[in-house]
Amino acid sequence: MTEIPIADPELGEREIERVRQLMESGALADGPEVRRFEEEFADFCGADRAVAASNGTAALHAALVALGIGPGDAVVTSPFSFVASANAVRLAGAEPVFADVDPETYALDPEAVESVVRERDDVTAVLAVHLYGLPADLGHLLDVADDYDLALIEDAAQAHGAAYRGERVGSFGDAACFSFYPTKNMTTGEGGMITTDREDVAERAASFVNHGRSADGGYDHVRLGHNLRLTSLAAAIGRVQLARLPDYNAARRSNAAYLTDALADAPVETPTEPDDRRHVYHQYTVEADDRDGLAAHLDDVGVGTGVYYPTPIHEQPAYDGTEWDAPVAERAADRVLSLPVHPNVSERDLRTIATAITEYDH
Ligand SMILES: Cc1ncc(COP(=O)(O)O)c(C=O)c1O
Repeated sequence: MTEIPIADPELGEREIERVRQLMESGALADGPEVRRFEEEFADFCGADRAVAASNGTAALHAALVALGIGPGDAVVTSPFSFVASANAVRLAGAEPVFADVDPETYALDPEAVESVVRERDDVTAVLAVHLYGLPADLGHLLDVADDYDLALIEDAAQAHGAAYRGERVGSFGDAACFSFYPTKNMTTGEGGMITTDREDVAERAASFVNHGRSADGGYDHVRLGHNLRLTSLAAAIGRVQLARLPDYNAARRSNAAYLTDALADAPVETPTEPDDRRHVYHQYTVEADDRDGLAAHLDDVGVGTGVYYPTPIHEQPAYDGTEWDAPVAERAADRVLSLPVHPNVSERDLRTIATAITEYDH
C-alpha cells in the first residue's frame, strides 16, 4: 500500500463552511462568488483581468479563441506536457507544432521555437508550458514573440504563484491559463482560469465560456460560444485555497529543498531552479537511468511516484500522422520520475523517500 502518496489535496473546514453557505443560499452555478474569485486571482497574478472556466483545458481553448487563433494558424508548443496543451490548440481549430524543450528546465527552448517559426509562415502564437511549477524562459520567448509578431500564451496549469524575474506567472503573455484540478498547487475540484492584461481578450474569453453572450449577460449572443463556466461552489473553494496558496507553495519549496540536499549523492539528477525563477514544485521531478526500476523500488517501500509524462505528445496515437523531431523531450520521457513534495509530506516522509533512493542499487 502506498503510504506516501504522490498527491494529497487538502480541503478544510473553511472550504466546507463556505460551500455550505452557498448551498444554503441556492447560488450554485455562475454568480458573484465567481466574479470575486476572478478578481482575487487576477490580483494575485498581477494581471488586470481574470476569467474563470470549468477546467484548465477549457481555459486554454477559450484563451486561444479569444486571441483569434483558429483554422489556418499554427501554434508552437511543447511536446513534453500534458496532452491538454496541444489538444486545446486543435480544439480551437489551429495546428499544434512542436519545438523541443530545454534539458534542464523541460520548458520550450526559445532557439528551437525560433527555428520552427522561421521554417513556416503560418505560426501566429507560442503556447509556453511552465512544467512542474517552473516558469519557462519567458524573457527570451517574449523576444521571439515580439520579433515575429506572435501571441504568447502561458500554460500555467502547474505553476500557480511561480515567478519569473520577480513577477508572478500569469502576467507575461497575451493570456495565461491555470488549472485547479485536485493534484494542482491549489484546487477547486475541477476548474480553470484565464488571466490577461488585455480587456478585449478577457471580454471575448468571458463570452466564449458563456454561450457567446454579450457583456451584458442577457440573451444577446454575439458569437459562437460554449458553456465552460465555473460553478460558484468551485469558486468558493478556490477563494479559500487561493488564500492558502502562499503557505502551500512555501511548504512545497521547503520539501523540495530538503530532497535536493538529501539526494546530493544519490544516483539521480535533481531539479534545477535558475536564478531568475521561482519554482513552486507542482512536481519534484528527478531523472534516473533506471527510472522504472527506481519507481518499482519506491512503490515497494510505500512511496508513491508519477511519470509526467511517459509519452511525448507528438508520439501519442491521437497525434499519429505527424513527424516531429524532439530528442530532448523523448529522452526526458524515458527518465523522469516525480516524487511526493506536496504540503502533507512530513519530514519523516522526506527521510524515507531520500533513504530509499540513496540505497537503491540497480
Ligand atoms: C500543463 C497542463 N496543461 C493543461 C492542463 C489541463 O487542465 P485541466 O485538467 O484542468 O483541464 C493540465 C492539467 O491537468 C496541465 O498539467
